[in-house]
Amino acid sequence: MHDTRFQRLTERLAEGAPLWRCLPFQEPEPAWCSRWPGLAEALLALDDDTLARLQADPLAGSALADSPLAAWLPVAALAELVALPDLSRHVTLPEAWAEGIAERKRRQLEAFVPQVPASPDEAPVDLVEWCAGKGHLARALAQRHGVEVTALEWDPALCAAGSVLAQGQSAAVRFWVQDVMAEEAGRWLHAGSRAVALHACGDLHRRLLTLAAEAGSEVVLAPCCYQRTADERYRPLSARGRDLAAAAGLTLDRDALTLAVQETVTAPRGVQRHRERASAWRLGFDRLQRRVRGVDAYLPVPSLAYGRMPARFSEFCRWAAAQKGLALPEGVDWAGLEAEGWRRHREVARLELVRHLYRRPLEVWLALDRLAFLEEAGYAVELGTFCARSLTPRNLLLRARKR
Ligand SMILES: C[S@@+](CC[C@H](N)C(=O)[O-])C[C@H]1O[C@@H](n2cnc3c(N)ncnc32)[C@H](O)[C@@H]1O
Repeated sequence: MHDTRFQRLTERLAEGAPLWRCLPFQEPEPAWCSRWPGLAEALLALDDDTLARLQADPLAGSALADSPLAAWLPVAALAELVALPDLSRHVTLPEAWAEGIAERKRRQLEAFVPQVPASPDEAPVDLVEWCAGKGHLARALAQRHGVEVTALEWDPALCAAGSVLAQGQSAAVRFWVQDVMAEEAGRWLHAGSRAVALHACGDLHRRLLTLAAEAGSEVVLAPCCYQRTADERYRPLSARGRDLAAAAGLTLDRDALTLAVQETVTAPRGVQRHRERASAWRLGFDRLQRRVRGVDAYLPVPSLAYGRMPARFSEFCRWAAAQKGLALPEGVDWAGLEAEGWRRHREVARLELVRHLYRRPLEVWLALDRLAFLEEAGYAVELGTFCARSLTPRNLLLRARKR
């Protein structure tokens, strides 16, 4: 069943590539606008509420019924392909275990912990948390299952802080300062281990899967941040993924991997407003630099950390121009240019809905590649969601056990 899904998704992503690859932020008129002027028109006419709903989840059931994209794009087919089994189960962790854990993280743990089975007494497994941070997951598992858990983390400060937390709660967690990319990292995994990883990024969870498959270790993984990888172009893990991608002409670069995990709505309102202003100002500057240079092309400007944004639009433009060695003319109509930036921002947000439609399909495709890799290594694998997207959009779970 997953193979058919993998195959169809590959085809859909390959045929949709000209749509999801377009960056309306950089190209005022994406190439697809001339092919489907009606689609661009319909999107540009959307009110703010519909925009927000579609940005949040363009493939959610509630968005499907009256999706303005459906007349042009395969919305229902994509929604069907990304609909995975709901594996969610929830436990409430005792208050005393939650010390030092942010509320949201705690609720994610409450959803993840029941995904990790307790091992029967007659066949105990070694639990290993991969890239553990302070080992919140390891601690919860140690206490819930009454076993010792090994926590691997390369940052000695996190290991030390995690050990203090574990000792304070009498939780049997042993931390090891371990770079999981190092040669010897495989020594922690064997046929009797169960490796768990909640939100381990790109290369870190790739490494886990490769080493686990070599060793025959069980895996319970919620993958994250596929774009955090040393490779410029995505190399499918599975032979099946490589074959399907090659046959369909599907290639994924870092932008595609970033799109797979791009979210627009989970940030607090203040941060969201800051982002919107940053986007409008950058687009305002984009107009200005095209005029000043006499070149109708996007010019990337470095990002600014939160709180470093100048107070006025004109100051931002002067800063950006200095970064690019551009001399600005006298008498710029700053108010008019800023208004243009905001107009472009509203336009870009709407045109980007086409890209957003392919966000989840890309993410599910990447998860299916991991599933296929494990199956090829002789595993029985389950793939589903372990919690609602509102708790974490990275809610895909892979659970694999050697056959
Ligand atoms: C996204 S955090 C996830 C932490 C934890 N699993 C959680 O959900 O809170 C990734 C962790 O991986 C650690 N890390 C990054 N690179 C690593 C490496 N090469 N080896 C081991 N740990 C690494 C980071 O220090 C960080 O604690």
